[in-house]
Amino acid sequence: MTYKQTPDDLPDKLPKLPDELPDDEPKNLPPGSSHHRAFVGPPNKYDLVSAMQFNLLTFLGLRENHFLLDIGCGSLRGGRLFITYLLTGRYFAIEPNQRLIEEGIKNELGGHLVDIKQPVFSNDPNFTLSAFNQKFDFIMAQSIFSHASVPQIRRCLAEAKKVMKPASIFAATFVKGEKNYEGGVWVYPGCVTYTFEFFKSLVEEHGLACKRLEWPHPTAQTWVVIVNPGNEDNIPDIGSITDLLRLKNELISCKDKLSKIEGRPYVKLGVWIEKSVKRIRRRKKK
Ligand SMILES: C[S@@+](CC[C@H](N)C(=O)[O-])C[C@H]1O[C@@H](n2cnc3c(N)ncnc32)[C@H](O)[C@@H]1O
Repeated sequence: MTYKQTPDDLPDKLPKLPDELPDDEPKNLPPGSSHHRAFVGPPNKYDLVSAMQFNLLTFLGLRENHFLLDIGCGSLRGGRLFITYLLTGRYFAIEPNQRLIEEGIKNELGGHLVDIKQPVFSNDPNFTLSAFNQKFDFIMAQSIFSHASVPQIRRCLAEAKKVMKPASIFAATFVKGEKNYEGGVWVYPGCVTYTFEFFKSLVEEHGLACKRLEWPHPTAQTWVVIVNPGNEDNIPDIGSITDLLRLKNELISCKDKLSKIEGRPYVKLGVWIEKSVKRIRRRKKK
């Protein structure tokens, strides 16, 4: 659509942004539906899950010159921000479902950015991360281990170990539960669960270390960072930041409650009496 932008016809011809997504948008589709946004999760949280992945990696130190591998990139929910941010040829992704990559490029990223940034994609269905012949500074597996079987996770970790540099950071999510999924196949769109201890033991089997991260997730998955042993302490302690934010919010709400209480007539009277008593006591001391 083009607009002839002259002062006379500009105001009423400017497109208006809707307050809400119109009904034909995918926001109400259930996760796993064929729409490229809905296929990868709740469509009304597509933007949040993009931002959350991008914010986490930049918080952990991702810079534009780093090499990033996005495992199961789907419709480029995270990829649309990572590809834009990273220098040309630094974004790599594995996604068996080529249609999702194409829909992501068409609807979320744009072909011109692909021309400029030259992301590299593979449709390998067996977590062959070493197929790129490239070592990575960062690896992302967002909502992958939440659907993967133990043999798939083992294969992915064994491959990750091969493509990690000594200081690489591998951020991943899984769904923490009381039971460990024992099936041998990928489950989708449902999720599988693992205990943290079990997940950690899988990571350690492959000569890697694992640290839980208190990073928010809109569908309550647990974030972990996987690194080479000895590098766990280099991961910033997000817990203290989230604690600080929680305390700040509590302080704001306490101040709010206090200001409401202070406005009540009997509280005002009480404060006035207390101040008067103090004043009288001070005078008596003199
Ligand atoms: C819940 S979606 C997450 C997509 C993406 N990581 C995101 O956050 O938007 C899971 C993705 O894993 C992909 N997938 C399925 N089997 C896979 C495999 N063997 N290797 C890599 N990705 C796979 C699916 O096609 C789907 O795009």
